[in-house]
Amino acid sequence: MPLVDAAAARAAALRAAALRGELAAHDRAYYVLDAPTVPDAEYDRLFRELQALERDYPELATPDSPTQRVGGRPLPEFAPVVHAQPMLSIQTETDTEASGAANFDARIRRELELPDSALPVEYAAELKFDGLAVSLRYEHGILVRGATRGDGSTGEDVTQNLRTLRQIPLRLHGAAPAVLEVRGEVYMRRDDLARYNAAAAARGEKTLVNPRNAAAGSIRQLDPAIAAARPLCFFAYGVGAVEGWEWPKTHAAVLDALAAFGLPVCAERAVVRGAEELADFHRRVAALREQLPFDIDGVVYKVNSLALQARLGFRSREPRWAVAHKYPPQEALTVVEAIDIQVGRTGALTPVARLQPVFVGGVTVTNATLHNADEVARKGGICVGDTVSVRRAGDVIPEVVAVVAERRPANAVAFVMPDACPVCGAHVVREPGEAVTRCSGGFSCRAQRIQAILHFASRRMMDIDGLGERYVERLVEFDYVHGVADLYRLTLADLLEMKRRADERDGVVPETVKAGQVATRWAENLLAAIAASRRPRLARLLFALGIRHVGESTAKTLADWLGSVERVRRAPAPLLAVLPDIGATVASAIADFFAEERNARALDDLLCPEVGVVPADEHPPHPALAERLAWEQLYVALDIPRLTPLRARQLAALVDGTTLAASGVDTARLSAAALPGEVIDALVAWLAQPGKRGLLAALARQRDDLLAAVPLASPTAADAAPLAGKTCVLTGTLPTLTRDQAKVLIEAAGGKVSGSVSKKTDYVVAGEEAGSKLDKARELGVAVLDEAALLQLLNSQGVADEKS
Ligand code: IVH
Repeated sequence: MPLVDAAAARAAALRAAALRGELAAHDRAYYVLDAPTVPDAEYDRLFRELQALERDYPELATPDSPTQRVGGRPLPEFAPVVHAQPMLSIQTETDTEASGAANFDARIRRELELPDSALPVEYAAELKFDGLAVSLRYEHGILVRGATRGDGSTGEDVTQNLRTLRQIPLRLHGAAPAVLEVRGEVYMRRDDLARYNAAAAARGEKTLVNPRNAAAGSIRQLDPAIAAARPLCFFAYGVGAVEGWEWPKTHAAVLDALAAFGLPVCAERAVVRGAEELADFHRRVAALREQLPFDIDGVVYKVNSLALQARLGFRSREPRWAVAHKYPPQEALTVVEAIDIQVGRTGALTPVARLQPVFVGGVTVTNATLHNADEVARKGGICVGDTVSVRRAGDVIPEVVAVVAERRPANAVAFVMPDACPVCGAHVVREPGEAVTRCSGGFSCRAQRIQAILHFASRRMMDIDGLGERYVERLVEFDYVHGVADLYRLTLADLLEMKRRADERDGVVPETVKAGQVATRWAENLLAAIAASRRPRLARLLFALGIRHVGESTAKTLADWLGSVERVRRAPAPLLAVLPDIGATVASAIADFFAEERNARALDDLLCPEVGVVPADEHPPHPALAERLAWEQLYVALDIPRLTPLRARQLAALVDGTTLAASGVDTARLSAAALPGEVIDALVAWLAQPGKRGLLAALARQRDDLLAAVPLASPTAADAAPLAGKTCVLTGTLPTLTRDQAKVLIEAAGGKVSGSVSKKTDYVVAGEEAGSKLDKARELGVAVLDEAALLQLLNSQGVADEKS
C-alpha cells in the first residue's frame, strides 16, 4: 500500500474509533440515562460521517459500531445458540398476599438450616419485568451475540434484532471481562406501545396486543428492520457465563457492576432483610405499579449473598435462591360479545364493549368503554366476536387495549357508529375536529334527560340521597319528570303509582303487595331527600346545571365572584372571561348555556316559588370584582381585532364602554391621543358588525349593576355578612333543613354554631321537639327563631347589604 494511502487509512481508523466512542456515549446518555447530551442533528452528522468512513474502509465496520445497529439482511431462519450457562426459570409464588414473602423466607431458612435465633436473611428485591428474557454475550467488552431463552439450554440467535435496541451497549464501559453473559428482559413501555399502535392502525397495520407480546414478537422477527421500527427497551437483571472477572460478593453488587458497564439496570430495587421487609417491598411496588411506565407482573426476591446462593443450588431448572412474588393480573384476554351505544348527558354516543366476564385488576370485568369511533379505529377496529386484551389498572375503568388479529372469527361484525340516536332516533352529529358523535335530540332524548337528572342529583351536586339510576329511569320513562324541577313536584301518590306501574310492567309482585300492604317508606325517604336539597350552596347548584366545561372548581369561582344565580345567568361572556381561571371558551359556554331558551326555562322553573329551590348562600359579588371589571380588561375580553392589552389600556383611558356603545368611535379624538390608525379602523369595523354594539351596551349595563352590588371596601365582607359575629344554637328538627345544612348556612353568613345556650347566644333556632335548650333560651331571654325566620334573616340582611 502506498505510503499516503496507509497514512490516510490510519487517520480514518483513528477517526472512526473516536466517532464510535462519541456516538456510544451519546446513545448511553439518551437511552440509558435519559439525559441527551447533543441535539439530534449533531448526532446524525457524526453518524453519517462514521457511515461514510466505513463505506470507504469496510474493515473499519467493527461489530460494536453504532452503524451496525440497523441494516442487517432478513434471515431465512434463526440459528440455534447453546447457552454456555443455561437460562434458568424462576419459581413462582402465586400467593399474592404478604404471606407469599413469608413462605419464601421460611423455605430459605429451612434449606439453609438456620436456627430461629439466626439473623434475618438478606435479599436483593427487584421488579419482575413482563417481557422477553434474553442473553447478551460480550467478549472483551464487545457484544458478539444475543439470544432468546428458548428451552433454557438452546435459544435462538437474535443478535441482529437486539443490536437495534439503543439501550443495549455494543461495547461495555471500563475494563470488561474476557466473557460476560448478561441476562435481562426486553420490554416495551406502555406509552411507546400506545403510540406505536396508533401509528400502526393509521397505516392499516396490525397492532400489538400487549407489551409482552410486543417484545417477544419484535425480537423474533427475521427481518431486523421490523425490530428496529419497534420502540423496545432493556433491563439487565443477572449474569450467565463469565470468564476473567472478579465476582462481587452479592447479587446487588453484580447489578451495580452491570450498571457501571453501561447496561440499563432498573433503579427500582432494594436490599432488604427478612420476611417483613420483603412484604414491605411487595406492597410498596404494588402502590407504585400504576406509575411505572412499563408492565410488571410481580417482584423477584433473590438471596443476596452469592455464597449462600451457591449453597442453596438448583432444583431442576429453577434456582432455590430466587422466587417471583406475583401481583394479580392487570391485563387479560377475553371476547367481545356485543357493542352497545350509551347516550350521555351531553348526548355523546359512547360505544361500550360487552365482554365475556374476565378477572382482571382484582375484579370481574364485563364491560369496557371504547370511548368513540376514533379510539375504536386506533385500536385496529374492534369487531363483535373479536378476542381483545382488556386492562384494568387500579381504580381506572376497564379498557380494551388491542385486538388479537389472529383470533378474529370469520363471522366477526365490525363496529360502526350509528347515524341515529339508538334511544330517541334523532340524527347524530359529529363536529369537525371533534372525536365525539352526539345525539341532536337534546332534552327531548330520554337518555339525555335521565343522565341530566342523575347528574343533577349526584352527591357532589344537589346530593339527593337515594335518587339512583333505577328511579330516575322510571320517573322519566313513565313521564313523571320532564325536567329537574319536576322532582320537587313529586308527591307520595306519584311515587307509589310509578312503582306500581313499573312492577306491573316487569311482572313482579312484591311481598308487601301479596300481603295486601303498600310499602311507602322508600318513597317518603326519597321525598324527604328531594326536599332537603331545596337549599343547595350556590356553587353546587351551578355545577348541577350541567353547563359544558363547568366543573366543581369553575362553579365555585362563579359563586364566589358573582354571588347569585341571577348575576351568573345575566353575565355576558366577556364579563365572565375576566374572572379568575375562566377563559374565553368556558365563558362562552356559560353564556351560551343561559342564552338557550330551553335552559333558561328549566332554570326559571327550578327557581319558581312553587318549586322553591333557593341557593343557601347567595351574597354580594366579591369585593375585588371592581378591579376585574376595569374597561381595559373587558376590552381585551371582547376580543376586538388588533386591540392588544397595551392598546386596550390606552383605549380605556380615553373612552369607557358605555360611551363607546352609546356614541360610537370618536375617531378624531382617538387618533389625536396617538392610538394607531389601524387600531381605530379595526375598532370601527368591529363595532359596525351586527350585534356588537348591543353586546357592548349589555356588557356596560351588567357592569354597572355589578359594581353597584359590590360591597364597599371598608367593612370587610365578613363583617357585612348577615350573621357576622353572631352565635347560634340549633335545637329540635327543622322542617326542611338538616342540622348540617343549617350549620353551613349560618357559617356562610358569618355566624358560629354552638352546642349549648348561654347569655352569649344570639339566636336559638328551634324546630319540632326542641327540648331543654329552648327552655334555657326562654329563661335567658335569647331570641328564638324558627326555620322560616332564620331564612328570612339570612336573606333580608343579605339583600340589604347588597344594596348598600
Ligand atoms: S432472574 C434466577 N430477575 O422471569 C432465575 N428474572 O422465569 C433467572 N424476569 O422470563 C431469572 N424480571 O426473564 C429474573 N428481575 C428479574 C426478572 C426476571 C423478569 C423473567 C425472566 C424469565 C422469567 C423467569
